[in-house]
Amino acid sequence: SKSANGSGNPRDFIAKMKDGKKRLVIFYGSQTGTAEEYAIRLAKEAKSKFGLASLVCDPEEYDFENLDQLPEDCAAFFVMATYGEGEPTDNAVQLMQNLQDDSFEFSNGERKLDGLKYVVFGLGNKTYEHYNSIGRAVDDQLTKMGATRIGERGEGDDDKSMEEDYLEWKDGMWEAFATAMGVEEGQGGDTADFAVSELESHPAEKVYLGEYSARALTKTKGIHDAKNPFPAPISHARELFEDTKDRNCVHIELNTEGSGITYQHGDHVGVWPSNPDVEVNRLLCALGLTGKKDTVIGIESLDPALAKVPFPVPTTYGTVLRHYIDISAVAGRQILGTLSKFAPSPEAEAFMKNLNTNKEEYHRVIAGGCLKLGEVLQLAAGNDIRAVPNSENTTAWPIPFDIIVSAIPRLQPRYYSISSSPKLHPNSIHVTVVVLKYQSIPSEHVKEKWVYGVGSNFLLNLKNAANGETVPLISDAGEERVAMPSYEIEGPRGAYKLDTVYKAPIHVRRSTFRLPTNPKSPVIMIGPGTGVAPFRGFVQERVALARRSIEKNGADALADWGRISLFYGCRRSTEDFLYKDEWSKYAEELHGKFSMHCAFSREKYKPDGSKIYVQDLIWDDREHIADAILNGKGYVYICGEAKNMSKQVEDVLARILGEAKGGSGDVEGQAEVKLLKERSRLMLDVWS
Ligand code: 2AM
Repeated sequence: SKSANGSGNPRDFIAKMKDGKKRLVIFYGSQTGTAEEYAIRLAKEAKSKFGLASLVCDPEEYDFENLDQLPEDCAAFFVMATYGEGEPTDNAVQLMQNLQDDSFEFSNGERKLDGLKYVVFGLGNKTYEHYNSIGRAVDDQLTKMGATRIGERGEGDDDKSMEEDYLEWKDGMWEAFATAMGVEEGQGGDTADFAVSELESHPAEKVYLGEYSARALTKTKGIHDAKNPFPAPISHARELFEDTKDRNCVHIELNTEGSGITYQHGDHVGVWPSNPDVEVNRLLCALGLTGKKDTVIGIESLDPALAKVPFPVPTTYGTVLRHYIDISAVAGRQILGTLSKFAPSPEAEAFMKNLNTNKEEYHRVIAGGCLKLGEVLQLAAGNDIRAVPNSENTTAWPIPFDIIVSAIPRLQPRYYSISSSPKLHPNSIHVTVVVLKYQSIPSEHVKEKWVYGVGSNFLLNLKNAANGETVPLISDAGEERVAMPSYEIEGPRGAYKLDTVYKAPIHVRRSTFRLPTNPKSPVIMIGPGTGVAPFRGFVQERVALARRSIEKNGADALADWGRISLFYGCRRSTEDFLYKDEWSKYAEELHGKFSMHCAFSREKYKPDGSKIYVQDLIWDDREHIADAILNGKGYVYICGEAKNMSKQVEDVLARILGEAKGGSGDVEGQAEVKLLKERSRLMLDVWS
């Protein structure tokens, strides 16, 4: 039903635009917030370049059928992420249905959008097959309905080059935009998004010190989701690798009792990390805030439609840097330009400007060197980035804090495949996390240095704290950075500790990575390394089912079950074999229905000396695999590293299936793999 009272209807975006004199409407399809960030950036640029105001819209909150009523001097932007295997994000499902449903009508009673001007930027990941399919579909449908695209369609690859793809696309788009809209650059001004004020006397209990939701201090209850993570007590944590000389892998059990959180095998858990001590201190120094770490600040949005304060306030400078914004990421090219204005010296300014405009230089020095914003500021000012940062060895930049809040994205949760089954562990979510640590590419500015993953090192710190372990951690930089970075665990208001219990903020993200409901279907699981995580959950799921079936129908209950095969790989059986002691127990309970195939890549080699990987074991087992898939209607699951492992496993599967059908891997095999994917009998949970 269409509302007649225009501005009275909160779902009417046209009325809202008119009220706010806005000429752009920017829809975003966003799952984790990245597309939303780009939508907001486009809105800000429209404002600063052309002085045009935008309405940034979550499509779920508005009625789409008004789109044909967009006045002629306006334009619609679509910033659309493609999720999983070519699906729209949750908040864009309805929008996509409207666009693709032939019987959908706009308020003109037709499927027509003549005269509508639009811009599309798609966000996707090239390691998936359906790269950017949602952005493309939006573009195609709008064109079909008579709308006209402004400039080229932009596409960003989340695997490698999102930021670069965006930067490369947007200048041409804005040029075309100026022409199409009849506007000129330079009409806008540099407007701040936020006003930051230091609060002198504020009751301590009303200051947010790392809480994620405003509810935390107002004590209102709510369901626990991405907007309101649950501080889950760690009921058990341990190291999984036997040999921890170079690497760690942590197993953590998160207690969800009383939280209302439920999960299924194959789901993901989002863990909300904080930034490590050394980076927090480095940036405090570089911003000249060393003495003000605990100063309470209020932040207000100057245009709430464009930019909401992205975290609860009032808070403190230190908290923002530690808990709320992503200061551990590699510094973006654009922010270097923005901050060059505040350089403490002409040399520092030139250094920043050069990195901002010279793409090759940026890639070589900043991206290759994995330099964080604090490190770049130090480097530009001629400071030694390997020293323990303090106010003496770090030059302070007079950067207004509101610019930091606008320009640095919010710290995001890290997603891990859950490694338990709720049937065996109804109140406990297990995660299996290899601790990320690698060396950056050296340049003349910075020699090789260690880079540490934020989420996994945070969990390593929590594990150590929970076990009262004093494994060497570094709380600062220094020449020999061999230990892992330390994090403030027992922070203010017990950030991650309450009495004697350690906690990690979490929420659950649903997935479609699930076992077939019928246990008669054979199941083939391929998960080397931490790719085995969801399969521990899968096997536990079947163990729980086996117990129940046997209890009900006796010892023969599993006789007609399909075989469950797990293909696992690690370096050595004595070094990094995950859950080594558990598998035989599961096998026992599954009465011969479970078979495990292990590739120990640095223990046993092929006659020619090359490594044996999971795909080699799959090939060896090809007869059974082809039979299970082609005759047994079996299900195949791959989890782990995307670019090499998962691709190579798919290729071997194609070869096995192609040859079993009397054809080739490239033709019949690839066709069969495609079909299996379409029928959800080949599913992927992969990462790069
Ligand atoms: P490697 O480190 O000895 O090369 C878990 O990381 C296991 O996956 C290790 O045994 C690792 O072997 C192996 N691995 C590395 N690259 C792989 C690939 N492309 N395909 C399958 N397994 C791989």
